[in-house]
This record gives sequence, structure tokens and C-alpha cells, in this order.
Amino acid sequence: MGRCRQRRYIHLRNELHDDFFLLEPGSSERARESIAGPVDPTGGFPLGTRLESFMSPNRKRRYAGSMLTYSQPPVLLRDAIGDLDAVVGLLERNAPYTPLGGWYRNVGDPNAVTSPLWFQNDWVHADLAVEGSNLFMCDERVIEAARNFYGAEVIVPHSLYVNIMAAISESGPAHTDNPMFRGRSRANTPMWLLRAMLWSGLFDRWSIVQATAIWWMNDVEGGGLSYWPDGPAKPPHRHAGDMANTSLVGDNHGMFHQVEPVGPFEAGTQLVTAAAELAPTDDGSGDWTVTDRGEVVYRAPLGRFRVSVLWKASVYRTEEERRSVECDTLSLDDVARIFDAALAERGVDFRFDLDRLDAPELNRALAEVYPEAVPIGAGRSVFDA
Ligand SMILES: [Fe+2]
Repeated sequence: MGRCRQRRYIHLRNELHDDFFLLEPGSSERARESIAGPVDPTGGFPLGTRLESFMSPNRKRRYAGSMLTYSQPPVLLRDAIGDLDAVVGLLERNAPYTPLGGWYRNVGDPNAVTSPLWFQNDWVHADLAVEGSNLFMCDERVIEAARNFYGAEVIVPHSLYVNIMAAISESGPAHTDNPMFRGRSRANTPMWLLRAMLWSGLFDRWSIVQATAIWWMNDVEGGGLSYWPDGPAKPPHRHAGDMANTSLVGDNHGMFHQVEPVGPFEAGTQLVTAAAELAPTDDGSGDWTVTDRGEVVYRAPLGRFRVSVLWKASVYRTEEERRSVECDTLSLDDVARIFDAALAERGVDFRFDLDRLDAPELNRALAEVYPEAVPIGAGRSVFDA
């Protein structure tokens, strides 16, 4: 098992290195070929082939002019983690936790009391692997479930996050997880552009297929998960009640999902500043507290918080495929050229200006041409409140 772990981490580092830094010249040529002709002579795949090839035909959906693939329903594992004390140790050692940031959280004034009790921390990413994280990272049942889900041989776990939530009367945002493309990631590309790339369907060839597992530690009041395995136009399914020590393995990048309201609900949604921290108390009670600007503003046993751990892995049908595509990366020039060609074909006037990526007009114009889907039956998001 130790060897297995070591090997996986070597894969992990290679994977992330490739993703973030291999922005080779020459990819421009391949990018142009991908829209000009059906087959990449360098040995890649016809446009759109990779994603579709992972999915059964009845799960494909055409939406807003782009081909998106919606997953099979995720796979539910019960009694997912054998050593729950080890998870508590992980949680304690890696405190404190800070309020969720990122794409859905526009934190302006750090003193504004606008953050719900939704705390997050990274346990594994490119430069980090906290002690004990192999409990999740190398979980053979999860890896096997991902393998079966995608019909793929190579699963490369690369990220682990934890979410801890309480007292949120609204839902989380209904969303698909942030897309990843070879050569383009959050490290070098604005998130709005990555999402426009996803919804355009123009960059499927470079998409790094991602498997996700979500594990829940306990049952709390509320806190279910709505998910849309039949696509955004069909009603959601739910995983709610009896969630303790279950894990849901599937495609959160192709399937909308949403955290349902999390109790306790008596006092409504509790809000704190972005500087608040969640940590265990040191008084032996087993309680965890939220401290904001020097004051304890919320206190409860760990078992009353909704604790979930998210695992992510890259998916390749074969090791040969992984190697064959790893240098086929996208530069920003490629992205601009491919968008511009598609816009010209549609008769749309505006063109990409890489010197003005921060300009909201570009974001708005692309969103108009390639709108994100809005899933039906979604609850109101706490971040829209
Ligand atoms: Fe998500």
C-alpha cells in the first residue's frame, strides 16, 4: 500500500506540473488543426471525441449549441471510511478553517459581515498533501468506482478539500465544478474564461476529464445534495438523510449539483466576516467554535456541523492515452484564435483581445453567445441572498 501511495503522488506531481506549466509552442498549430479538420495528425483525437467516448450515448445532451456530456448517476458507497477517528484527527490537525472564497464568493470589504458558516480548507493540491490525507487519496474503493464509472483504466487523484457548514437556511449555488483543460487552469486563466470555454464546447479535446467523490461524515439537520444526472432540464435527484459515512462518486464537472439548506435553522443564516475562523476548542468539550473579530459567534459539537470531503482525480482511458495527450496543451493564443474562428462562423462581430482579458465586455459578450445552463428546480443560493 505504501508503494501504491508513493506512486500515486509521483503521478500527482507530474499531472499538475503538466497542467500548469507545459505551455509549449506548437500547441497553436494543433489547436488550429482541431477546428480546421476532423483529426489531429499529431495523434490526438477528433474534436470532442474524448469526453463523448467516456459516456454512454443515452447520457449525451446537446445544450445551447454545445455538446455537453452528462454523467451516469453517481455511484453511492456506504461505510466508505473505516477509520472515522483518523478523519477527526485530520480535521483537528488542519484547523483553523476559513470562510469559502472563490468563484461564487465575491469578498469585497473584509470587514463586511457577509459570509455564511461555510468553511473550507485544502488538504491536497499541487504543492500540498497534509499528513494522513492518503486515507482519502488512495481509497481503493473510490478509485475502483471511478474506474468503473468512466470505463477507464487510469485514475490520478490530485486534490482533496474539506467543507464544514452550519446554519445556512438557503442552498449553496447550483453549479458544475470548475473545468480544467490541458494548459489552462485557474493558475493561468480567469475563471470566467475557463467556464466560457466549457460552455462553448470548443475545447472538449483539451478537457481533462475529472472524477469527483464527495464523502459525508455525519447526518445533520438538512444538508442534502441535489444533483441533476439527467441534465439541467430535468428535475434533480437527491441524496438526503442517512448520509453519514457515504460517498458519492461521479462527474461533478458534467453534472449540476447543489448543497441543500444546512441546519440548525432556528436562527436563520448566520453570517460572519471573511476573517472568521472555525476550530476545535481546547477545553476538552469536543465543541468547535467560530471566532470572528475576537468573539466566539457560534459553538457546536463537531457532529452538528455538515462535514464533507471532496476528492478529485483526472481520468484517462489508458496509460497510453495519458502519455499521448500530455503535451497537447492550449495557450491563451490558441483560446483566442479558436473563439475568434467560431465567432466569425456565427457572424458575431466582436473578437478576442488578450490585452483586455479583465474587461467585463468580453466576459459578457461570450456569455451571451455561450450561456451557462440554469438547472430547473434549484433552490435559492445563499450567495444570491
Ligand atoms: Fe461542486
